[in-house]
Amino acid sequence: MAGGAHFDGGTTKDYPGKLTGFVLLTCIVAATGGLIFGYDLGISGGVTSMNPFLKKFFPSVYRKETADTSTNQYCKFDSQLLTAFTSSLYLAALVASFFASYLTRKMGRKFSMLAGGIIFFAGAALNGGAKDVGMLIAGRILLGIGVGFANQSVPVYLSEMAPARYRGMLNMSFQLMITIGILIANLVNFGTNKIAGGWGWRVSLALAAIPAAIVTVGSLFLPDTPNSLIDRGHDDAALNMLRRIRGTNDVEEEYKDLVVASNESKKIKHPWANILKRKYRAQLTVAIMIPFFQQLTGMNVIMFYAPVLFKTVGFGANASLYSAVIIGVVNVIATFVSIATVDRFGRRTLFLEGGTQMFICQLIVGTMIAIKFGTTGEADIPKWYAILLVLIICVYVAGFAWSWGPLGWLVPSEIFPLEIRSAGQAITVSVNMFFTFGIAQAFLAMLCHLKFGLFYFFAVWVFIMNGFIYYLLPETKNVPIEEMAIVWKKHSFWGRFIDDDQDNNGKPPHTPEV
Ligand code: BGC
Repeated sequence: MAGGAHFDGGTTKDYPGKLTGFVLLTCIVAATGGLIFGYDLGISGGVTSMNPFLKKFFPSVYRKETADTSTNQYCKFDSQLLTAFTSSLYLAALVASFFASYLTRKMGRKFSMLAGGIIFFAGAALNGGAKDVGMLIAGRILLGIGVGFANQSVPVYLSEMAPARYRGMLNMSFQLMITIGILIANLVNFGTNKIAGGWGWRVSLALAAIPAAIVTVGSLFLPDTPNSLIDRGHDDAALNMLRRIRGTNDVEEEYKDLVVASNESKKIKHPWANILKRKYRAQLTVAIMIPFFQQLTGMNVIMFYAPVLFKTVGFGANASLYSAVIIGVVNVIATFVSIATVDRFGRRTLFLEGGTQMFICQLIVGTMIAIKFGTTGEADIPKWYAILLVLIICVYVAGFAWSWGPLGWLVPSEIFPLEIRSAGQAITVSVNMFFTFGIAQAFLAMLCHLKFGLFYFFAVWVFIMNGFIYYLLPETKNVPIEEMAIVWKKHSFWGRFIDDDQDNNGKPPHTPEV
């Protein structure tokens, strides 16, 4: 059997050292990089539904929305122009992550984080003071560049700093910050929406400067990772740092392995050409498929459009916003479940459990909407029905929050060897951003055409991704990051892409054992 091939990471090295307060602190500070991404994910939907904002920047959209008297709930809120504006950030992040990958490798992880914080700050200032659409879009592009830099460097930073046994937990603090950012943004919108005078949107956009300042100041104080220090020729500093973050002087073995990894890395002048080599096919596939699948769970439909969805099922404007906040809270709390369990149960267990949970919820939501709205999109649904729907959506969000959410950032950041890690992470960020953009752009049209079938559409994707995880993703828990090659080599499918001498580029593949 090719698939179902598992590898128990427990059989690789276990370096001495413990979880020090120092490493915990540095990881928490670095993870705040997730705040800027989260704040943005959470703020845009609310701002673009504020009438004063629409009137000022998108008068045609505003006119169309107020004139719309159609009763077909599936096709009510379609405004491509507005979604194009929202999505411009993701395209900017996509492009920026490639530049970030170069800087992260050459200048260190910390440098990219700092750059991300500063650029995001500039974007927040421009947006908060926006006088016309031009300023608004320029600001958004800067925000996107900031997000691209942060998302490219922070997960790698966390995975390198963490002792292998706690890598899942520490890396997931990034996702925790994303969810906190989303929740804060939801609450901010809730408050600023009430500001009389119609400038609430300005406050929402300008407050992005706070998470940006936290990231910027935080990263000034962060040390760089030993892996990156060695790679950039600072061997002594790396050794000292390793001792400090592991809380022991007994770091010889780990240090030696980092040096070996770095020597390999130094041979590589062109990470982008290297990543295409046959021996990295497994990692490349995973780096592309994980973020792709993460977006195809449909989670961002809930994140971006929860208030619209809830309005669609008959909630009033306020109740819809409340429900969005409840979902935000569930998202944060459920992330702790994965933080607490990922290094014990492993990545695969969480992926498969979360996937199954999301699949079931999507089928139920699709069916509930089908029963009431049918294909005409017209209905008057009882309150209990709408509440039940929100509850099931909460169970779905919890499933995402302890599986594809955090694992979507953890797994790609821990599977690559040092020489192509930075490039690999850039690929993950850009695929993620591309499909975030795609879903944001296509959702309203899809809802209009697929109707309740939209939920079945995502359910089918979740089913497929569970198969991918089951057959093609080996377990990586507790495996030291620079030892990860072993995991791929032992996998019954991916192993056939790797020759014993580890350099089979261009040569015929191994014949797999059957
Ligand atoms: C995803 C985002 C999503 C968020 C929700 C992140 O991991 O990349 O697209 O909005 O989780 O919490």
